[in-house]
Amino acid sequence: MSNRKDLLSVLDLTVNNVKNIIELAEQYLKNEVKNSRILEKKTVINLFFEDSTRTLASFEIAAKSLGANVVTLPIKFSSINKGEDLMDMIKTLNAMNPDCIVLRQKDSGIVNILASYVSCPLINAGDGSSEHPTQALADYFVIISHKKQIKNLKIVICGDILHSRVARSNIRLLKMFGAKICLIAPPTLICKHFPEVDSIHYSLIDGIKDADVIMLLRLQKERMNSSCFVPSNREYFYLYGLDSQKLLYAKPNVIIMHPGPINKGIEISSDITDRVILQQVEFGLAIRKAVLHYYRPC
Ligand code: CP
Repeated sequence: MSNRKDLLSVLDLTVNNVKNIIELAEQYLKNEVKNSRILEKKTVINLFFEDSTRTLASFEIAAKSLGANVVTLPIKFSSINKGEDLMDMIKTLNAMNPDCIVLRQKDSGIVNILASYVSCPLINAGDGSSEHPTQALADYFVIISHKKQIKNLKIVICGDILHSRVARSNIRLLKMFGAKICLIAPPTLICKHFPEVDSIHYSLIDGIKDADVIMLLRLQKERMNSSCFVPSNREYFYLYGLDSQKLLYAKPNVIIMHPGPINKGIEISSDITDRVILQQVEFGLAIRKAVLHYYRPC
């Protein structure tokens, strides 16, 4: 069990926490957990203020398979649309004594404030451009299953780094285990202040040389307001989209990852296999079971 109430950021995790969660996830993946109905008679509320396919579905499936009563609140029909304040909404749901709240938010960092209004564990399912800890755990789980260890692997993260919570959580988690992180992005989609990374490249071909893992990121147009960050999708794909020709510069046994949703023909060409990408989804479900198990209240 976790010694902290909430999972809001990768920074909440110790190396031991990560190892315990991965061990549990491995057991869930192999159906080896003895008491898998660990959330029987417990209530889990999914509160998603931003669109999601993978994270929402996997938390819902995970909580149900652990025996919980699951309420996925339809935000579109909630009283937030009648002017209810977000804090009041959270306090209202907390008054119903749930055993866990899983929260996705458009705004970065707000989960930290909301956690103080909630008595049960709060799990961050992605907040703005800040953190997506369960995605990073799923990605770590996939990498370790292919490469056995993280230390000294060259892990390339390419795309819209500026707006990416997946990049931030992955960098923090993978650096804890000694990975060498290389970022690739157009100059408009990266902030220079990334003290944890080993290199930054503006050319995809330069950056992916000798890569063990390539993680591609989606252009997050919904966070770009009206500013022009890239001239066109076509130019972005020409310079930063991964195709089988550019892939020849990486190691032959490189794995290609993408947290999804994917924009084919923008960050990745359709001739590249999505085998590992679908494994990220499969392992993501096992991770969400493990996280709900690990953070359950006593
Ligand atoms: N990777 C990820 O968070 O996907 P969804 O937005 O579909 O949940």
